[in-house]
Amino acid sequence: MAPKSARTCRPWCSTIRASSKHIWEAPLLEVTGLRVAYGGIQAVRGINFHVAEGEMVALIGANGAGKTSTLKALARLLDAAGGSVRFRGKEITNLVPHELVTQGIALVPEGRGVFPRMTIVENLQMGAYCRSDQAEIEADIERMFSYFPRLKERARQLAGTMSGGEQQMLAIGRALMSRPKMLLLDEPSMGLAPIMVQKIFEVIRIVASEGMTTLLVEQNAKLALETSQRGYVMESGEITLSGEASALLADPKVRAAYLGE
Ligand SMILES: Nc1ncnc2c1ncn2[C@@H]1O[C@H](COP(=O)(O)OP(=O)(O)O)[C@@H](O)[C@H]1O
Ligand SMILES: [Mg+2]
Repeated sequence: MAPKSARTCRPWCSTIRASSKHIWEAPLLEVTGLRVAYGGIQAVRGINFHVAEGEMVALIGANGAGKTSTLKALARLLDAAGGSVRFRGKEITNLVPHELVTQGIALVPEGRGVFPRMTIVENLQMGAYCRSDQAEIEADIERMFSYFPRLKERARQLAGTMSGGEQQMLAIGRALMSRPKMLLLDEPSMGLAPIMVQKIFEVIRIVASEGMTTLLVEQNAKLALETSQRGYVMESGEITLSGEASALLADPKVRAAYLGE
């Protein structure tokens, strides 16, 4: 958590204010004891983590570790089997997915999930379905085009006919069209050529530098940790390591297990 000045401190910090010159604010997203199960299979086994406002945090781990199940539970696409998820101090564990969007959480799902029979522009408009500020929506579509000029060139093309990289750009653009307070990204680099990964991560970094709070799930641990401030390592449904991204990048266990050394 980042230290905050007393001026921006919330009332519940008052006891800390009395005893410390550092003022800590509650994280934007706080996950406690989260569990996800598929029938008898426990995919997520009581994990704890948080993401502070404006932070980019990586969740890394091998295939099958439970990363997607975690994101799906956060986005309420799956019911948690236990635990609590608080967003901006409010329990969101029992909301339905569209309420989550209005609360300010947007998921870019694994496999992108664009609407294949809709054009790029229509997909972007779908991302803004919870908004009614038409002029602002048009302006945001132009903003997405400035992030991803490739999408502008193909504005009237059906999304299903685009390359994987272009669909990933569109999926990110569509998520941003809801003007979220927090972005959940599930494996944005998966299956893409290095040049596409580079272009997409350039935009992820720009969006983060503009203040977007981001939880970045990746199998590409090096890329994720180089892009994030902090990270968590997930193994078999549990978080086994966490810390500053630079420290995780230097950690021998991480290097051996995830950086191919
Ligand atoms: N729909 C499902 N039904 C049953 N088991 C599932 C389902 N989805 C995922 N799992 C299992 O849950 C575990 C975690 O999967 P997942 O969250 O997709 O991991 P990751 O995203 O880290 O690769 C794996 O053992 C996987 O086989
Ligand atoms: Mg996954």
